[in-house]
Amino acid sequence: MSSLNNKHILLGVTGGIAAYKSAEIIRRLQDQGAEVRVVMTAAAQEFITPLTMQALSGHPVHTTLLDPEAEAGMGHIALARWADLLLIAPASADFMARLAQGKGDDLLSTVCLATAATICVAPAMNQAMWRNAATQNNLAQLQRQGVVTVGPDTGSQACGDVGPGRMLEPAAIAAHCAGLFDTGSLAGKRVVITAGPTREALDPVRYISNHSSGKMGYALAEAAREAGATTVLISGPTHLPSPERVTLLPVVSAEEMYAASLQALPDCDVFIATAAVADYRPDQAAAQKIKKGERDTLVIELVKNPDIVAAMAAHTPKPFTVGFAAETERVIDYARDKLERKQLDLVVANDVSRSDIGFNSDENAVTLVWPQREENLSRRSKHQLARDLVERIARQLA
Ligand SMILES: Cc1cc2nc3c(=O)[nH]c(=O)nc-3n(C[C@H](O)[C@H](O)[C@H](O)COP(=O)(O)O)c2cc1C
Repeated sequence: MSSLNNKHILLGVTGGIAAYKSAEIIRRLQDQGAEVRVVMTAAAQEFITPLTMQALSGHPVHTTLLDPEAEAGMGHIALARWADLLLIAPASADFMARLAQGKGDDLLSTVCLATAATICVAPAMNQAMWRNAATQNNLAQLQRQGVVTVGPDTGSQACGDVGPGRMLEPAAIAAHCAGLFDTGSLAGKRVVITAGPTREALDPVRYISNHSSGKMGYALAEAAREAGATTVLISGPTHLPSPERVTLLPVVSAEEMYAASLQALPDCDVFIATAAVADYRPDQAAAQKIKKGERDTLVIELVKNPDIVAAMAAHTPKPFTVGFAAETERVIDYARDKLERKQLDLVVANDVSRSDIGFNSDENAVTLVWPQREENLSRRSKHQLARDLVERIARQLA
């Protein structure tokens, strides 16, 4: 079973007869849960109107690169970061040539250059154009670049010819897109992920907590499941819906998260600690609501919480243990210190002093701190980041 729940798909439409089918592709992607935005080339707009695509996608259609107004809103870089997948359907022979050459001469080609997401093309053209050596060379080049192709089909064509070059049907394209997210790279593995904040009670109505939204941990749980892992998500309080086909264990405090983590540990192959766990908790939570009274100050004694990720890394057999370091200064130094002190296998370092990424944002940029090296993952959606992280962890396990 596969679906496109929570997936952002940027549909690129280029100038070919099959462009009329791209309207139905939007519907088929939406049926599987995807949010779709559309970019159209100038030629595509001669075949189907942006208005149709806007009405179906529920978003304005993006058509121009050199438009200051568009760039001030969702410009080419924002679109490239938003996408979990770029689907070009139909992909004209001309667009395949431009993509193979790395051109950035219109909005769609520039978004393709700027994205970290997978690019999937559904070619559609006359059979002679498809068989042409130039098109076949471009196809081979695109495959070398990691571009995925879906189709074309063989059959009767709009021009009266019969042969290869027909675009696959919209339902088949949508099913193929869903399959792209199911990598199987963690098949047979058990992954435990902590997410969200913890709440440390001061009294029955008040608590100490933090701004963690849980988005990164939930995205990782989806990515691990898509990679075929049996996935357990231990989550502090968040406003996020429970990911499908993931075992969700809701907790509130750090001590509860610690207990749930210990319980989930047997047979755990990978432990990923994204939760923003409170370092300290009030020594004694008051049994009754603390009254304001006459006092000008109130002193609350805090005691240290258990170090969950360090405890998991110290366990025998040791799961592959990944920590997250949310820092506001000396981000890499602190992350490396955490890696070494807690005997982790990887630390994902995160600069939370930036308001545009990190806590509560849908995007993040991180540095992966491995025992022997560092690796930057530039700004992208948390879902894309989660998939990139899961693939790296899977490679390491393999
Ligand atoms: C009526 C008509 C139909 C066309 N159909 C296709 C087609 O199915 N596939 C294709 O690759 N090109 C087709 N073309 C040619 C493209 O529209 C042309 O190469 C254009 O420059 C593509 O621009 P784009 O790749 O920026 O969208 C067609 C042209 C016309 C006039």
